Amino acid sequence: MTTGDQLLSECAAWKKLEAHYEEVQGLHLKTLFADDPARGERLTVDALGLYLDYSKNRITDETFKLLLDLAEETGLRAHIDAMFRGDKINLTENRSVLHVALRAPKGATILVDGENVVPQVHAVLDKMVDFSHRVRSGAWLGHTGQRIRNIINIGIGGSDLGPVMAYEALRYYSDHNLTFRFVSNVDGTDLAEATRDLDPAETLFIISSKTFTTAETMTNAHSARDWLLAGLGGDTKAVAKHFVAVSTNAEKVSEFGIDTGNMFEFWDWVGGRYSMDSAIGLSTMLAIGSEHFLAMLDGFHQMDEHFRTAAFAENLPVILGLLTIWNTNFLKAQTVAILPYEQYLKRFPAYLQQLTMESSGKHVTLNGTHVDYDTGPVYWGEPGTNGQHSFYQLIHQGTRLIPCDFIAFGQPLNPLGRHHDMLLANVFAQAEALAFGKTSEQVQAEGTPDRLVPHRVFEGNRPSNTILIERLTPEILGKLIALYEHSVFTQGAIWNIDSFDQWGVELGKALAQRITPELESQTEPELNHDSSTNCLIRRYRKLKKN
Ligand code: F6P
Repeated sequence: MTTGDQLLSECAAWKKLEAHYEEVQGLHLKTLFADDPARGERLTVDALGLYLDYSKNRITDETFKLLLDLAEETGLRAHIDAMFRGDKINLTENRSVLHVALRAPKGATILVDGENVVPQVHAVLDKMVDFSHRVRSGAWLGHTGQRIRNIINIGIGGSDLGPVMAYEALRYYSDHNLTFRFVSNVDGTDLAEATRDLDPAETLFIISSKTFTTAETMTNAHSARDWLLAGLGGDTKAVAKHFVAVSTNAEKVSEFGIDTGNMFEFWDWVGGRYSMDSAIGLSTMLAIGSEHFLAMLDGFHQMDEHFRTAAFAENLPVILGLLTIWNTNFLKAQTVAILPYEQYLKRFPAYLQQLTMESSGKHVTLNGTHVDYDTGPVYWGEPGTNGQHSFYQLIHQGTRLIPCDFIAFGQPLNPLGRHHDMLLANVFAQAEALAFGKTSEQVQAEGTPDRLVPHRVFEGNRPSNTILIERLTPEILGKLIALYEHSVFTQGAIWNIDSFDQWGVELGKALAQRITPELESQTEPELNHDSSTNCLIRRYRKLKKN
């Protein structure tokens, strides 16, 4: 393992990759495909219903072999085993990293400090199943005896992005008689717009917060309680029927006034960005029902087992992670575009942003040494084909290299005339155009005036992966998310960083806590910030008064 003081850049496989890059950097995908007619069939993995075509990456067989050597040399296998064993691999927080336990089958054993956590996971799942049946069937009534028709999840970061993404992704499977909303931003507009047209008597709030101390969530939760009580005549007993909590912090939940009987627990060995399949998924279960939710967990678990057991050369998350290392550290790509050609996955890129960037946005190794190589790339994206009419121009003809992950499905959930064939034609066309481009000879042969030729040339040689799947189901969503979770794990293990802490969010939080009273103070506060911040605070205080 790359522990101790050995830097990744000192590994033999890394050095070989550097030398190899010098040899292959001039190669064009056109040549790689022309020289190997079977490439597009060979550089693929077909596993668990996911077909990954990674042939349009700028790699040779030697690159792939050296990347696999890098995984071996940096001890990826040992890292994987350590996670699944429950070792405290989140070193800076001294915690196990066991989102895989959230989807382990009932009989499994996963120990944390000598205790099997799987029975606890299933006890909470059973409680979620019971609660969601009661709400969905109308057995759970609000304070005034009306059934619940609206569900609002209040949370932020991992306590929001997973629930929103999963709700949107699985909307097809959702109970359409229920309205779901998600409030995350402390900007009052978020809560105001989410509640504007709702009847408090029919509304249930799920306060989702691992810590139950996050300022945005607590502020929104208090305002939601005020809204509810104002609408229901002020009887505080109403809170018990209209608020449930998802948290690791029973004490804070109780302080807020939520009966801990209505609390759905999870544990500190679940990271926020890895929590959508814990009780944080309560809104998802309410939307799609427990059977679909359990099918999603099974999908996660299948990918966990694939990651744990498959040979690296056929291991979907390992391959995806290694390709990201190649593109980031050798081809020097700064970003990865996530391009789902599936409208239901419209929040998937946003979800992946937290998963990947909170995990891999690290500048020191596990033992605190400053890295001398790049870590996490910027993840971003939009559903196709919208992006094609917006930012794809830069991907095709800009000066930056932007590796793309295309995600597409064989069967539409809402078949409509020719729509799906057109959609899929676009995915295949984009990946083809990025890889192979269009030469000046081809452009000239079309009769393009000379002065326009350079503008119409596509250099190509732009890498992409295509993930093709039969149909978007809860099970497939679980597999897809676990694929990226473990790809991030692979990257973090090789970069030798702590992929499970997020100290980078603390400084801003602390400063905001200091500034809030300065903005609210009735008298002119003494300001000890830099001149820019002081000035902005003074200006805001004036604007506020007007
Ligand atoms: O942004 C920092 C963070 O701690 C995330 O990791 C987490 O998902 C989010 O805040 C919300 O935290 P909590 O669930 O404790 O409210």
